[in-house]
Amino acid sequence: MKNILITGGAGFIGSHVVRLFVNQYPNYQIINFDALTYAGNLENLKDVESADNYHFFKGNIVNEADIQKAFDQYEVTDVIHLAAESHVDRSISDPMAFVKTNVIGTVNLLNVAKRAWNEDLSQHLFYHVSTDEVYGSLGDEGLFMETTPYDPQSPYSASKASSDHFVRAYANTYGMKTVISNCSNNYGPNQFPEKLIPLLINNIKAQKPLPVYGKGENIRDWLFVEDHAKAIDIVFHKGKDQETYNIGGFNEWKNIDIVRLVCDEVDRQLGRAVGSSQNLITFVKDRAGHDMRYAIDAKKIKEQLGWEPSLQFEEGLSKTVAWYLTNENWLMRVTSGAYQTYYQQQYTNN
Ligand code: NAD
Ligand code: TYD
Repeated sequence: MKNILITGGAGFIGSHVVRLFVNQYPNYQIINFDALTYAGNLENLKDVESADNYHFFKGNIVNEADIQKAFDQYEVTDVIHLAAESHVDRSISDPMAFVKTNVIGTVNLLNVAKRAWNEDLSQHLFYHVSTDEVYGSLGDEGLFMETTPYDPQSPYSASKASSDHFVRAYANTYGMKTVISNCSNNYGPNQFPEKLIPLLINNIKAQKPLPVYGKGENIRDWLFVEDHAKAIDIVFHKGKDQETYNIGGFNEWKNIDIVRLVCDEVDRQLGRAVGSSQNLITFVKDRAGHDMRYAIDAKKIKEQLGWEPSLQFEEGLSKTVAWYLTNENWLMRVTSGAYQTYYQQQYTNN
């Protein structure tokens, strides 16, 4: 029996993690703790919302009292912490929002958990979900290892690196049982269309320009979100105390090649002439401090915990495009209102 508080469960990755845990572990109570920011959407969890072991708690990790209330109400035994401000471009225009949620929010969560579990810290796990961006930017060669020194380059990655340090400091100082995983770029259903792949699908559908930063030569390592959720399940159950696990897709792509691939897949699924949407590609001003290359060495999690990605990229991308084209209402709802203002501020004058 466990009562697991999953923070950020209404977001992109969090919703896949919540679904997996609710379905896979009927003996666990799953408490989805989420502030429902622009990125959080309970619609993502429609299929599990009436399950007996699923509970939603609307709360903000920046307010310690919200967390305390959830801990008291559900006698939380473990935490899987995903709640975060997660978009690099937003961190460039508003770094303080990232400090508040990602740094202060994480420390609040650690403090409440430490107090609640004080009698026997060894019985409770604080699992912190982080990103490969904490390692900085790679050149042409090399891969991020668990031992790679931290070298964050954006306000987003600096805030995530800081939260990772606090988790390790609480393990070292107070003996909290912790585990951290650092994952590469995720893609798949339910991702907010500020991120590259869903933004492309949405714009191709509407035949709007496809903004490619700089020359499109930056490289990312892409992983299907359900594979990340499975990795989180394995790390939660089998990960060793105070260890770090890098999670990646062994799947590096140059942005411009991804853009072309997405164009052709959307064309194919919409019955348009394949290749025609590539005319929409528009090179725009580069992101400030744009990290050149991310690539994960996921050998440790494979060898020690037996996890590896299950889906080939072409298959995952085809599933993702199909999901966005089928779930038009979801896309319409999340891109109405505040998204329009964000889009204009981000992409006008570029
Ligand atoms: P997301 O932006 O889609 O979702 C974030 C969720 O957190 C939303 O539901 C939002 O409402 C909630 N949230 C935000 N601020 C909150 C606050 N102050 N209190 C409570 N809830 C709050 O993010 P995502 O892409 O699903 O990322 C989830 C986690 O995984 C993050 O910690 C991120 O750093 C990490 N991560 C993401 C990726 C990726 O490619 N998306 C890769 C590696 C790691
Ligand atoms: P993104 O999805 O924002 O993830 P991250 O910055 O965390 O890797 O961006 C992925 C890559 O795509 C990154 O190199 C920036 C680039 N990009 C564009 O070229 N145009 C865009 O409109 C966006 C959102 C991203």
